[in-house]
Amino acid sequence: MTEEHLTSQEAVEGEEAVELSLRPQLLSQYIGQGHVKKDMEVYIQAARQRDEALDHVLLYGPPGLGKTTLAFVIANELGVNLKSTSGPAIERAGDLVALLTDLEPGDVLFIDEIHRLAKPVEEVLYSAMEDFYIDIVVGEGQTTHAIHLPLPPFTLIGATTLAGQLSAPLRDRFGIVEHMQYYQVEDLEKIILRSSEVFHTKISPQAAHELARRSRGTPRVANRLLKRVRDFAEVKGEKEISLETTAMALKQLQVDSAGLDQTDRKLLRTMILSYGGGPVGIRTLASNIGEDRETIESLYEPYLLQNGFIVMTPRGRVVTQKAYQQLNLPLPGEEE
Ligand code: ADE
Repeated sequence: MTEEHLTSQEAVEGEEAVELSLRPQLLSQYIGQGHVKKDMEVYIQAARQRDEALDHVLLYGPPGLGKTTLAFVIANELGVNLKSTSGPAIERAGDLVALLTDLEPGDVLFIDEIHRLAKPVEEVLYSAMEDFYIDIVVGEGQTTHAIHLPLPPFTLIGATTLAGQLSAPLRDRFGIVEHMQYYQVEDLEKIILRSSEVFHTKISPQAAHELARRSRGTPRVANRLLKRVRDFAEVKGEKEISLETTAMALKQLQVDSAGLDQTDRKLLRTMILSYGGGPVGIRTLASNIGEDRETIESLYEPYLLQNGFIVMTPRGRVVTQKAYQQLNLPLPGEEE
């Protein structure tokens, strides 16, 4: 079947198959996050030796760092099923009860964006996590009564981009808490080389390095940029993605020399041009650049902070000299 004859649904499924094969299946294939891997190896082996469910795991860190991938790897290493959902997808307590009662002993329930769970749903989780039971109310009027429903021992893996937004009672019920860090350039290079094999595409080592360097420390960004760069290379008729084409494609995609994208730059530029470099509060910034607060706090700010383009002060974020230089803007006091 040629591409033209694919229905949109089939095209989506094809894309998902590639996404899936981009994902490692085993901890040994999982690149980077060394400290997380080292911890998890021990906890997984211990749970297996005791033939018990692994303790609940909270993975937190910026989006795109492989939290979902790691959850699947953990379930795979444990030899159990994984059921996947997300905080906003569980609208009512009943939806969560349905998920929990469907688990087999030792299974993993993965909840992405767990900081966005509705309160009544979150409250059902407390007893489920702590003692593996839920109390549900059935019937109406005079026949109303509570049922005490035991659950199979299971592992909850929660993922969140904003650990600070998790309520204390929920956070305290995770026995294992792991912080996912931005990837080193060398690790992103390995991920890019692995992904290009999955795509049956060749890429020069210099091109892979440049892509890695400009991927915001994030595998999701690296894989997305790789796909776009591959498009440019194929249209040019290149047999191997070259450094030259990579540089050209990244310029076209408006990814700058430090890997900052349009929104990163808009954020810095707004702080400099409208607020004299700061300090600026998050609400002011969000309404000025037209992004929601959560996206700025979980996606943009952590990278800009980590790389020294902004610093946090008690009165808000402030841009650094490095930010002025990256944007080619005159430092305060140096304007012509
Ligand atoms: N693809 C995306 N993230 C990955 C990782 N951490 N290791 C291997 N392949 C990946």
